[in-house]
Amino acid sequence: MNTTELKRPDLGTPQKESSVMVTLEIDGTEITVPQGTSVMRAAALAGTRIPKLCATESLEAWGSCRVCLVEIEGRRGTPASCTTPCEPGMKVRTQTPRLQALRKGMLELYISDHPLDCLTCAANGDCELQDMAGVTGLREVRYGYGGANHLRDKKDESNPYFSYDPSKCIVCNRCVRACEETQGTFALTITGRGFESRVAASQGEDFLGSECVSCGACVAACPTATLTEKSIFNLGQPEHAAITTCAYCGVGCSFRAEMKGNEVVRMVPNPDGKANHGHACVKGRFAWGYATHKDRMLKPMIRASILDPWREVSWQEAVDYAASEFRRIQAKYGRGAVGGIASSRCTNEEAYLVQKLVRTAFGNNNVDTCARVCHSPTGYGLKQTLGESAGTQTFDSVMQADVVMIIGANPAAAHPVFASQMKRRLRQGARLIVIDPRTTEMVKSPHIQADYHLSLRPGTNVAIVNALAHVIVTEGLVREDYVAARCDTASFKEWKAFAALPENAPEAVEAITGVPAADIRGAARLYATGGNAAIYYGLGVTEHAQGSTMVIGIANLAMATGNVGREGVGVNPLRGQNNVQGSCDMGSFPHELPGYRHVSDSTVRASFEADWGCTLDPEPGLRIPNMFDAALDGSFRGLYCEGEDIVQSDPNTQHVTAALSAMECVVVQDLFLNETAKYAHVFLPGSSFLEKDGTFTNAERRISRVRKVMPPKAGKSDWEVTVMLANALGYPMAYDHPEQIMAEIARLTPTFRGVSYARIDALGGSIQWPCNEEAPGGTPIMHVDAFVRGKGRFLPTRFFASQEKVTPRYPLILTTGRILSQYNVGAQTRRTENRAWHSEDRLEIHPHDAQERGIRQDDWVGIASRAGQTVLRATITERVQPGVVYTTFHFPESGANVITTDASDWATNCPEYKVTAVQVMPVAQPSEWQQAYRRFDTLQTGLAQGHPAAQAEASK
Ligand code: SF4
Ligand code: SF4
Ligand code: SF4
Ligand code: FES
Repeated sequence: MNTTELKRPDLGTPQKESSVMVTLEIDGTEITVPQGTSVMRAAALAGTRIPKLCATESLEAWGSCRVCLVEIEGRRGTPASCTTPCEPGMKVRTQTPRLQALRKGMLELYISDHPLDCLTCAANGDCELQDMAGVTGLREVRYGYGGANHLRDKKDESNPYFSYDPSKCIVCNRCVRACEETQGTFALTITGRGFESRVAASQGEDFLGSECVSCGACVAACPTATLTEKSIFNLGQPEHAAITTCAYCGVGCSFRAEMKGNEVVRMVPNPDGKANHGHACVKGRFAWGYATHKDRMLKPMIRASILDPWREVSWQEAVDYAASEFRRIQAKYGRGAVGGIASSRCTNEEAYLVQKLVRTAFGNNNVDTCARVCHSPTGYGLKQTLGESAGTQTFDSVMQADVVMIIGANPAAAHPVFASQMKRRLRQGARLIVIDPRTTEMVKSPHIQADYHLSLRPGTNVAIVNALAHVIVTEGLVREDYVAARCDTASFKEWKAFAALPENAPEAVEAITGVPAADIRGAARLYATGGNAAIYYGLGVTEHAQGSTMVIGIANLAMATGNVGREGVGVNPLRGQNNVQGSCDMGSFPHELPGYRHVSDSTVRASFEADWGCTLDPEPGLRIPNMFDAALDGSFRGLYCEGEDIVQSDPNTQHVTAALSAMECVVVQDLFLNETAKYAHVFLPGSSFLEKDGTFTNAERRISRVRKVMPPKAGKSDWEVTVMLANALGYPMAYDHPEQIMAEIARLTPTFRGVSYARIDALGGSIQWPCNEEAPGGTPIMHVDAFVRGKGRFLPTRFFASQEKVTPRYPLILTTGRILSQYNVGAQTRRTENRAWHSEDRLEIHPHDAQERGIRQDDWVGIASRAGQTVLRATITERVQPGVVYTTFHFPESGANVITTDASDWATNCPEYKVTAVQVMPVAQPSEWQQAYRRFDTLQTGLAQGHPAAQAEASK
C-alpha cells in the first residue's frame, strides 16, 4: 500500500530565500543558512530541536510563549530563537541549566491553567504542549489548580468538522495568524488582555455563524487540542498516511491522507505540496465523507428499459451486456452510433483509456469530455495565439505580480487556496482589477480592495477587452520591442488597426457594457504600465457565445503589453474541476489525440495506430451537443459516460433528457445513482479518488500522484472497468497498474515524454508539463524565450452581442456560478456536512428588481426563460447589479440548467451558461418541471431499491 511518514518535522519558522548566506555556530556545530533565517530554524536544520509553542513553520514568528529562549555569546539575556535572525559568527547555546529552568518555569505556568486529562484527550500523542512538558522535564505544578482558571470554559461545537475547546487554549495566537496569513479571512481575534485573553471568532459569534470559511488552517496550526477535527474524537489518532491529491478543484492541493486501517481519519494539507504549500479549503480538508456515504452504489446493475427495475449482476455480466448492446447498435445504426464521455474528475490514466476505447473498440472519434462545457474555449483560444492549450504560469508566479487582473472568476469560491495566495500578494501591495458583473469576494475583502471593478453587463466581455486594447494601442502603451521580437508582425498590425477603431473606444462601448469609460481607461493603463501584470480568468470568460473570442482577446492584451514568458505575468485559466487540464491533455476531444494533435494528421495517427494495433478514423467525431442532436435524429443510440452527470451539468436539461431517453443503451459509471444514471440501462459502480492510483493535472499543468489508500468499495478502480469493457468489445487491453498507462501516454505524447511515476516522485511529488528531453524537470513557466507556436499571433476580436437578448417578456439576464462549500453538480459535497453552509441554490436579485416585482427576502420565485422554468428562493443583495440575477447549480431539483439555453461558443460549442434572458416573479408552488422531476426521482429511486410500488408505477 502507498504510505509515508505520519508527520513531517516542523522547523519552527518559514524558509527564507537569500543569495547571502550566513554561517554561525549552534551548540558547537557550524551551520550555514540563507540570511533572514531564524536561530530556531537554523538549529533545527543542524539537528537541534529548540522547545517551542507559539512558533510553527507555516507562520511568521510571533515570539509570545518564551519557551524557545537561547543564549547568544556576547548578548545579554535570553532572546527568543524564533524571532532572532541568524548573524555571521553568532555562537548560540540552546541547552544550558539556566535555559532549562526558564523553559520549565514557562511550561509550569501554562500547565497550571490546563486540564490534566492527557490520557483521554483527543490530541494525546499529537499535542505540542504535552511534548514540551516532556522535553522540559516538567513533573509537577507548584501553583496548584485552585486559583482563577479557564478549565470550565464552554466548548464551541458549531462547526461540523472541528471543535473549539477554550479550556485547552494557551493563547499562542497561531490560529489567529493562520487565519490572517495563510487563509486571509481574518475571522479570529484575541479578545481581552492578560488572563482574560481568549480566541474569538469574528464579533464573538460561534464559528459557524462567523466569517470563518472552515479552511482548517487554524486547526492545523493549533498546537493543543483546542481546535481539533471532530473525526479525531470519533476515530482516534491515525496510524499511517499517504500523500495524494484533492479530487475537487483545479488547484490540485496535495494532502496527507491520515488513516487508520482502511478508514480516513483526516486529510491534512501537505506542507510540501507545490500547489498549496500546506493550505487547503473546506472541500479538500473536510468534505471527503461522500466516499463512504450510504448512497454509494456498489453493485453493477442492468435493465432493458429505464422504466424497468434495476437488476444487480456480476461485473462480467454487466460489462458483457454493455458490450453486446454497443455492438448491436453499431450493427443496426452504423459504427458512429455510439460514443463515450470521459470525465474531468477521473485520473489522467482513466481519461486516456476512455478515449482509447472509443477510438479503438468503438472505431470512431465520438469522444468528448465535460471540459467541453467549461474550458474548451481556453484550449482553442490559447492554441491559436500562443500555440499551446494551457495556462502559462505556476500559482507561485502570482507572488511576483504587480498587477492582478481577474476576469469572470471568483477564486475565493472556486479556487480558494489559490485565492488565499493571491490575497497574500495583494496585501503586500499588488494592484487589482476585477472584471465581473457581480461584486465578488475578490472585489472587497479584509485588507483587499480592487483598484478597478469593471462591473460589466453579462455577455459584453469582448467589448470590454476590445476597449482595453483600444486604450493600450491609442495611448502608446504597447511594448513595441517585445512585440517586434516575439510576435508575428503582420497579425499585430492588423490587430492594432482593429483595436484602434473608434467603435472600440471605451466611450463607445460604455453604453453596451455599462462600465464607465474612465474606469476602462484607468484599468487599461494600470494593466499596461503597472509592472508585471497577470491575468486570471474563469468560466465567466469561456461560457459565452464568444468564449473563444474572449480568450483570444486576453492573449492579445498579454502579448501587446509584453506580459507573457516570465514570473509574475501570463494568461492563467482557472480550471474548475480537478482534472479539466488533464482530461483535455489526454485527447478527450473528438478532433484531438492526446497532446492536442488533430486526428486528421496522418503522421500522428500512424504513431497511435502502430502502438494500438488498429486503424484510426481520420474524421473528427461528435461533440456532446452533437451527440444529443444525433440521438434525437435517430443516428446516435449508445453512450458510455464515465464520471460525468450530463443531465444536471449540461444546458437545456429537457433537451438532454429527451436525447438520453431516445438512446437504446446508456452506460453510466459513477459513485452515485446520479441524474444521468436515472436514464441509464447499465450502471457500473465508480471508485473515489481514495480507491485508485493515478494522476491529476491541475490548472498549472502540474501532474500530481493520486494514491490508493483503501481498496475500491465496489471491487474495481475505474480504469479497470474501462479495460474490461474494451476486452468485452474485442479490443484487447492489458494493464496491471496505472503506471503502465502513464508509460504509454509518455511514449505517445511528446509533451509527456519524460513523465513517469518515478520521475514525479524524484521531483518532489509533481511535474509541470511539457516534460521531455528538452525539459526533463518540467516547465513551470511557458513561452519563456519564444512562443510554442514560434511567433505570437494576434487575432482581431470583433464583438457581437449575444443572441440572448433581453425583451419585455424576459427583461433580466441570468448568470450562474459556484459557491465555496459546494462543488459542481454537488453529487459529492451535498453528501457531506458542507450543507451547513449551502443547503439550497438561491436566486440572487438586486433590491431594485425585487421591489419592482414585489419579491421579499426568502420568497419563492419563478424563473422563466425561453428554454424552461424553475422555482428557487430569493436572496435580495446588491452583489448583483440591477437587471442581472444569479444562481448556483449544485442541487438537481433547482433546475438551473432547465433555464439555460443551448446557445454556445462559435468555435467550441461551450454552452453560454452565463447569459440567459429571464423573467422572475413570485410564485406559490414548484415549476411543472420540478414537479415532474420529483415524480421521476421517486420512481427511479424506487426502481433502484427494487421497490414493488415503483415497479407498479413504472408499468402503468
Ligand atoms: S486555539 Fe490553539 S492556536 Fe489558537 S491560541 Fe489557542 S492554543 Fe493557540
Ligand atoms: S477555519 Fe480557516 S477561516 Fe475559519 S477561523 Fe480557522 S483559519 Fe480562519
Ligand atoms: S482549493 Fe481545490 S484542490 Fe485545494 S483543497 Fe480546496 S477544493 Fe481541493
Ligand atoms: S516559540 Fe519562540 S516565543 Fe514561542
